[in-house]
Amino acid sequence: MDGSPLRKDAPEDLAPRSSTRPIDEGAALRASLLQELPEIPARYLYDDTGSELFERITGLSVYYQTRTEISILESRAADIVAHAHPRQLVELGSGAGRKIRILLDSLRADGRGVTCTMLDINELFLLQSIDRLSVDYPEFAFRGVVGNFMTDLGRLGPAGGRLVVFFAGTVGNLHPDERRSFFGELSQRMDDSDALLLGVDLVKDPARLEAAYDDPEGVTAAFNLNILSVLNRRFAGDFDPSAFRHRAFYDPENAWIEMRLVAKRKQDVRLGAIDLELALDAGAEIRTELSCKFTRASLEASAAAANLTIDRWYTDPDDLFALALLRRRRP
Ligand SMILES: C[S@@+](CC[C@H](N)C(=O)[O-])C[C@H]1O[C@@H](n2cnc3c(N)ncnc32)[C@H](O)[C@@H]1O
Repeated sequence: MDGSPLRKDAPEDLAPRSSTRPIDEGAALRASLLQELPEIPARYLYDDTGSELFERITGLSVYYQTRTEISILESRAADIVAHAHPRQLVELGSGAGRKIRILLDSLRADGRGVTCTMLDINELFLLQSIDRLSVDYPEFAFRGVVGNFMTDLGRLGPAGGRLVVFFAGTVGNLHPDERRSFFGELSQRMDDSDALLLGVDLVKDPARLEAAYDDPEGVTAAFNLNILSVLNRRFAGDFDPSAFRHRAFYDPENAWIEMRLVAKRKQDVRLGAIDLELALDAGAEIRTELSCKFTRASLEASAAAANLTIDRWYTDPDDLFALALLRRRRP
């Protein structure tokens, strides 16, 4: 094993000290709610309830993404490990931390030692997953970082032999402008021995895409509506979630799914902590999540702008989902 195990509860690692201060966070939320199309940043979907609901979504029959990504990983993990030769694994938005196990199994089978750093905004899920991983993989060292992958990449330690993994198509939740700066910063922090394994959802039949974000059981609707309770708690708000309904649709021009909340009736909402009054008409919409869909060519173009190139491309027989292994382009 490389280095000494890093304790999951080391205060330095787990203290939520994002470079975005709470006051900035409030100002950013205020500004995005005051846009022509009001928007709530998608990271607010993931409090403990939201993270539980997301786990339920991953098991829904319409939600092909998780099982497809797992099947690709299971069949390609040995190839990924052989190409990346990681000494460090870093997972962004690690959630319940299930998929990383497939890579850890492959590394274990090869007798390779790694340190594994997981970063997520949800502290409870992060702690629980690190607890379970530390028991099941005692030969590896685990470290948790509570943080935001848009602002805290600098807390992930030095480059070198690092495989950064970002599953679930979460990179698609970034607006293309945010994705540009995310790729740019990640690329600057990589060296030639590092690689990025990115899970991306692929462009496909809009009906299939829309079904994945609007299940008949209403789990995705509950996940979406929960964001209002998160804002109520964190920003002293008085949103009434029952006064909104879930809406998800595919925008073919932008190749993204949008999740929105639609006001069922005219209403006034107050968020006391950021001194904001919102007057919403019946039918007014708030955007809560984007989920960009990719082709190999569109991902290649987006990555190239940050000097990253696709080294390996793994997909399933139906081209539903892909895992791309990216590296920095050599000059
Ligand atoms: C779509 S889930 C994916 C979870 C898991 N990686 C999987 O493959 O099932 C997105 C994860 O990213 C986390 N997350 C969302 N926005 C984040 C942000 N800005 N910074 C850090 N983590 C974030 C959420 O808490 C959640 O665990």
